[in-house]
Amino acid sequence: MGKTAVVTAGTGGIGLETALGLAAAGFAVTVVGRDAARGARAVDLLNSANPRRPSRFLSADLASLDEVRSLAGRIASAHAAPGEALTVLVNNVGAMFPRRRDRGGVEASFLVNHLSPYLLTELLLPSLTAGAPSRIVNVTSGAVGVAKRAFDAVEPPGAYYGFHWYGRAKLANLAYTLDLAERLKGTGVQVFAADPGGAATDMTDGTLRDPRIVAPALRLLWPLVRRKFERSTSGPASAAARPSIAAATDEGLAGRTGIVIGARAHPVPPFRPATDTRLAEAVRRLSERHAPLAG
Ligand SMILES: NC(=O)c1ccc[n+]([C@@H]2O[C@H](COP(=O)([O-])OP(=O)(O)OC[C@H]3O[C@@H](n4cnc5c(N)ncnc54)[C@H](OP(=O)(O)O)[C@@H]3O)[C@@H](O)[C@H]2O)c1
Repeated sequence: MGKTAVVTAGTGGIGLETALGLAAAGFAVTVVGRDAARGARAVDLLNSANPRRPSRFLSADLASLDEVRSLAGRIASAHAAPGEALTVLVNNVGAMFPRRRDRGGVEASFLVNHLSPYLLTELLLPSLTAGAPSRIVNVTSGAVGVAKRAFDAVEPPGAYYGFHWYGRAKLANLAYTLDLAERLKGTGVQVFAADPGGAATDMTDGTLRDPRIVAPALRLLWPLVRRKFERSTSGPASAAARPSIAAATDEGLAGRTGIVIGARAHPVPPFRPATDTRLAEAVRRLSERHAPLAG
């Protein structure tokens, strides 16, 4: 059976570098993005990296849960044929918004960074189980450390700060990742989180220069905070993709699950609040309420 992978937001930034790493490792890769021209360029690059296993682009706006459901259907059909089973899903999509926005009444960073990858994963579990041994890789962030740990509602109380809201959505997704790993023990589906560290990409270029993304206390220290952001996101996306590639391919991880792969592409201890079962339970309730499997 050939190895197959889906990489969301795989047509640019860290996702494209992840997809290229998987293609070079012999995977037939499907990349997901919104822009068809960017998708076509990514497919050309992927096919050069692995001419023997053609790649493919699927279009979806992952900020729309209806589009996520439709995407899951297309992926499941494409991987239903014998010999084509899905063996790796990399939930790489992520976004940070300097100003608050919502889609369909749900705050956008929680939607893109958690509900969307949650929904895609849940809908693809039958395909991943059929492809076992298989792996799910959820891309996390060091921003989990600045998150408000309140998950009674999609948004925590108080004013909106993009970096903190982004970190909180990533924390929800990390708690879900560890919870899912427990749920899937014995199925042959391994679950990992991968922390890319930082890289210069569209996401960081577009957001980290705006002091409004941090809470007022940190804003007082903005020159220092900004320098720290600049330093931590100055590296290439190819280096930031290594943790995801390792999580998806490292033979040394065979049989292991619920592991965070750190920025140096080795296992690291999870951020402790993400291991709190009450937090995971609250995230599960929110996810089921706001991202039902049938729309
Ligand atoms: N960069 C960092 O320093 C850093 C640090 C920690 C964690 N991360 C995480 O790493 C992951 C990748 O980050 P990145 O910096 O590479 O992001 P990025 O530069 O925004 O990634 C660009 C890719 O995302 C796609 N994309 C963006 N929004 C999309 C949407 N709504 N639906 C479908 N595709 C969408 C783009 O496709 P289109 O062009 O078609 O829209 C493109 O393929 C994210 O989960 C991020 O949170 C990044």
